Amino acid sequence: MTFETNTNEPRIATKKPTQFMAAESETKPERASMIEMQSFNAWYGDFQALCDLNLAVPEKRVTAFIGPSGCGKSTLLKWMNRMNDVIPTARATGQLRLPDIDILARSTDVVALRRRIGMVFQKPNPFPKSIYDNIAFGPRLHYTGLQRSDLDNLVEWSLKKSALWDEVKDRLNQSALGLSGGQQQRLCIARAISIGPEILLMDEPCSALDPASTSRIEDLIYELRKQYTIVIVTHNMQQAARCSDRTAFFFEGRIVEAGPTRELFTRPKEKQTEDYVTGKFG
Ligand SMILES: Nc1ncnc2c1ncn2[C@@H]1O[C@H](COP(=O)(O)OP(=O)(O)OP(=O)(O)O)[C@@H](O)[C@H]1O
Ligand SMILES: [Mg+2]
Repeated sequence: MTFETNTNEPRIATKKPTQFMAAESETKPERASMIEMQSFNAWYGDFQALCDLNLAVPEKRVTAFIGPSGCGKSTLLKWMNRMNDVIPTARATGQLRLPDIDILARSTDVVALRRRIGMVFQKPNPFPKSIYDNIAFGPRLHYTGLQRSDLDNLVEWSLKKSALWDEVKDRLNQSALGLSGGQQQRLCIARAISIGPEILLMDEPCSALDPASTSRIEDLIYELRKQYTIVIVTHNMQQAARCSDRTAFFFEGRIVEAGPTRELFTRPKEKQTEDYVTGKFG
């Protein structure tokens, strides 16, 4: 059994775009964990939104978070890249870690953390800029000294990886707002990967999309897991079953059950999980 820990490798965040653009590797049957939670709790003021979470998210796999509305899925995603820093009442205890970073530590460089963790939201949110400038925005901000040709290559690479290149290559200078919803969501994925993250967090990325666009995004997610650790929040059971390797079922701020997706859907250990995945509540 081999675990790919990469402890001797520089982290992708320290690499220049020319390096991470070539970083794709083969998938392996066993995976080290990329995000780890131990006794993780989170509050908004007096309200405890997450209770005693213990979970390892494996690298280069898709992990789905499922559970009824209000059970804390988005709260957990937001803690993973410290988006809750702007909410004065939000606080957390316990461990939430990348292999080499304590995410909760005050000393953690949040800009560097976010370069490693890309985020895609429910509603596609392209900037009111050209398709090209949407993708080039992050690299221009995070990497100094990029030549125009570097940016051109990076824009093309990101759009190809997000399966959008063929549809937009002749209109890169047109506004991103002229794209369809499904194209805009793929653009947002391209924008997220253009700065070379290791992790992609997706909070209900298909809920505003039609079935055909949803299917394209699911195919894309499955493809991207060769290179990225992906966490997807979804209310769509079929989607979790189709595109994730592992699933965690949340209820009222706790993880009721987590494991390989196929097992959780076909042989759930907990009655509550079974009731949820078979549509009895939620
Ligand atoms: N900024 C906030 N201030 C106070 N309470 C909040 C805040 N954000 C979320 N909550 C509460 O925390 C709990 C978890 O919310 P969260 O958005 O994480 O749920 P969710 O599982 O993502 O739900 P949904 O499936 O509807 O998106 C809810 O009770 C919610 O009302
Ligand atoms: Mg949510």
